[in-house]
Amino acid sequence: MHEKINRLLTELDSLTAKNAGEVEALRVGWLGKKGSITLLFEEFRQVGAEEKRQFGPQINRLKQAAVEKINALRESMESAGGHKPSFDATLPGEPAPLGARHPLSIVRSEIIDIFKTLGYTVAEGPEVEDDYHVFGALNFPPEHPARDMQDTFFVTAGDNPVLLRTHTSSVQVREMERRKPPIRIICPGRVFRNEAISARAHCIFHQVEGLYIDENVSFADMKQSILYFAREFFGAGVQIRLRPSYFPFTEPSAEVDVSCNICRGEGCNVCKHTGWLEIMGCGMVDPNVLEASGIDSKKYTGFAFGMGIERIAMLKWHVRDLRHYFENDIRFLQQFATA
Ligand code: DAH
Repeated sequence: MHEKINRLLTELDSLTAKNAGEVEALRVGWLGKKGSITLLFEEFRQVGAEEKRQFGPQINRLKQAAVEKINALRESMESAGGHKPSFDATLPGEPAPLGARHPLSIVRSEIIDIFKTLGYTVAEGPEVEDDYHVFGALNFPPEHPARDMQDTFFVTAGDNPVLLRTHTSSVQVREMERRKPPIRIICPGRVFRNEAISARAHCIFHQVEGLYIDENVSFADMKQSILYFAREFFGAGVQIRLRPSYFPFTEPSAEVDVSCNICRGEGCNVCKHTGWLEIMGCGMVDPNVLEASGIDSKKYTGFAFGMGIERIAMLKWHVRDLRHYFENDIRFLQQFATA
């Protein structure tokens, strides 16, 4: 018995395990119902009183050693486990929801990029303006109805009241005041009008204004620049047509239509069966406007144009209701995630 105890003690010393499963197998093999130590205890029960006295303490020590050894192995497995990352780096990650650019931002950038290729640079001006830069310098007569409370949000009253700009044409004026021709600018911005909100109108919307002033700038230059824009934006096949119109700051003035990109001119709901869609206003800058901002109208001519970003975006994606652009409904906005 003495020998057996010693052999088990040496064996115990050299025990190793690679994982928790192996530790458990050792525990069963040593201390389980049929484990070496349990069997030894059974044998011990059979021996005489003298031997019991002799081997009792040794067997107890052996059992104690086995328990300690197996506990030590188990602990070392657990602490080794603690150093491993507590997550599985090979599992696919949880996708974070990605935002998307707002459709109006997408269209604004597209418009700017097209005009950049023609040499235009971006200019911006204040949203809170005075009457002079929004109306006066743009040749609006004092009694012009656009100044009426119906259309304009006024901030202060007086001779040159402060107001929220109703169009981005005010940026033209500021640029003409501070630079000499040639001027070739594209002016995106937010504008405000006192309109009832509906599917087709909003009190806040966005425009892009263009202005080109130099010697010998002609109506034909304007037409060609707008045709270039229309084909870049709506597709190589589109046509444009210019209809005579009136704006106080341009003479002559025109409204520009593009051939309907949905029915290709055949007539549909979107173009109201005309085959044409209105996209902007334009014209040759009125000499009064040049002179008001200190530009010699005998030496320089120029053209200007202005379009609504919401309208262009509605035509691009066939959006039927302008209010979608401002409601921030994620289901609407997500549709532009890859646009
Ligand atoms: N400012 C005009 C509007 O808000 C748009 C416009 C028309 C701008 C003709 C222009 C232009 O520069 O030449 O409706």
